[in-house]
Amino acid sequence: MRAITLAVLASVWAMGEASGEPIRFTGDAAPATGAIALPVGADGVLDDAGKEIDARINNAIAGAMRAADFNGGARDTLTLYGIGPYQRIVLIGVGDGLKSRGDLEDFGGRAAQALSEGAAPGALHVIVPNIAGVETDAAHAAAGASFANYKYGEAFDRAKPADNRALVFHTANAANDEAAFATRGRALADGVKLARDLISEPSNIKSPQWFVDQTRAAFRGAPGVTIEVLDERQMARLGMGALLGVGQGSTRPPRLLAVRYMGAAADEAPIAFVGKGITFDTGGISLKDPQGMWDMRYDMAGAAASVGAVLSLAKSKAPVNAIAVAALAENMPDGGAIRPGDVLQSMSGKTIEVLNTDAEGRLVLADGLWWVQERHKPRAAITIATLTGAVRTALGDDYAGLFANNDALADAIQKAATTANEPVWPLPIHESVRKDIKADVADVRNVLASPGGPGASIGAAFIQEWVKNDTPWAHLDIAGMAWVTSRTPTAPAGAVGFGVRLFDALARGE
Ligand code: BES
Ligand code: MN
Ligand code: ZN
Repeated sequence: MRAITLAVLASVWAMGEASGEPIRFTGDAAPATGAIALPVGADGVLDDAGKEIDARINNAIAGAMRAADFNGGARDTLTLYGIGPYQRIVLIGVGDGLKSRGDLEDFGGRAAQALSEGAAPGALHVIVPNIAGVETDAAHAAAGASFANYKYGEAFDRAKPADNRALVFHTANAANDEAAFATRGRALADGVKLARDLISEPSNIKSPQWFVDQTRAAFRGAPGVTIEVLDERQMARLGMGALLGVGQGSTRPPRLLAVRYMGAAADEAPIAFVGKGITFDTGGISLKDPQGMWDMRYDMAGAAASVGAVLSLAKSKAPVNAIAVAALAENMPDGGAIRPGDVLQSMSGKTIEVLNTDAEGRLVLADGLWWVQERHKPRAAITIATLTGAVRTALGDDYAGLFANNDALADAIQKAATTANEPVWPLPIHESVRKDIKADVADVRNVLASPGGPGASIGAAFIQEWVKNDTPWAHLDIAGMAWVTSRTPTAPAGAVGFGVRLFDALARGE
């Protein structure tokens, strides 16, 4: 009995059904009644399928667009009710046209949002535009719909009534799209969902150990995955004084979590994603201003993106080797906490003068990055962190800051960022900054001695001190990208899971 139950669970897992909202694919023409969604280009131009539908209903759509002054702008959506035989027609503006996988994801996400907002019962039939150079258009649109449909709490409260109205994607090659969505799209959506679930959780629940437990549960049964967890004692034995130092002001001890997925030959070096996992950042003894401190529960978004990306790679059986490292600690100011001016020794042997305990992300990453290079000899290592307020000042919520010691890796990240619609912008690490973080009583200080300076670059320069000579390294500062206060086409307000899609594409070289 038990064996049978396990077998059933395993097969459900393999199909990705566990996360399944009703999404279907068909090669049929659009239905003649009910609810449909159509792409509309700039100046209100319908595509061929749309024109055919409009001709059948005496150009009522064109008339309604004129009356509503709807021009098909890339951010505009217009919902019409009771047009001809249709209960509902959703017009999704695509401006100059969809150009990438990410654009298709946005398109699908906007269709899903329109479906959930409208009161009409029944399925929404989405006419998916064809994009030159993208093979499984509708699969990407469906993935976007899955991202947009995310609800925080789903994993913890299955009793909530679900919206069971289906999205039906109409596309030329429905079988292809369906297969691509089943193997890749759902896996990616599951990775994004894991990241968002981890990020959203309030920090009274979310301790370092909780992050470990949730991640273990999410990977249970995943093929090719091994998980390693270091507790305080093991970290002490390895000399991880930086990660331990950050965690020592909390009653809930730090952890180092590594999730390795092997989808390629065993001797192929993995790509490593090393994420900042501060489960709450009070600033420590350098205490933060209470105003807005609550949002420091998302200070582990880098770690969440790292494990989310590896979950996607594993669930889709990607032919790559990858490893996620989560450097987990809670930055609290109790009587055991580190003080400004303290000196810590990191695993590499380098010593750090902690001038500000609120610059803690770089400390945990120092040990996480060193450990993964020693233990796994990665072909490239990318650190990802909600590291600095300064990057938000520089790039807002439009781009993550990208730093790198290697042009080929930076180019590959730019390409993956474009593919995945998770934008990055290159920032420098000037030689002068590398000099300015040198300390007198230790090798480096974690902030400059006097305030000011290029904050995001200082953080990156610090982390670079733990890059081994021949490791291609890049760093993403996602402080402006990890959380949104209003929804985007592919995310409700709250945790974004920024980086999951980018890392998934990067690992595959897409
Ligand atoms: N987690 C914060 C950075 C942050 C700020 C993330 C806002 C998301 C939104 C980080 O640990 C921090 O406190 N950084 C300090 C660094 C400073 C002390 C050098 C900052 O940016 O002010
Ligand atoms: Mn901080
Ligand atoms: Zn922080």
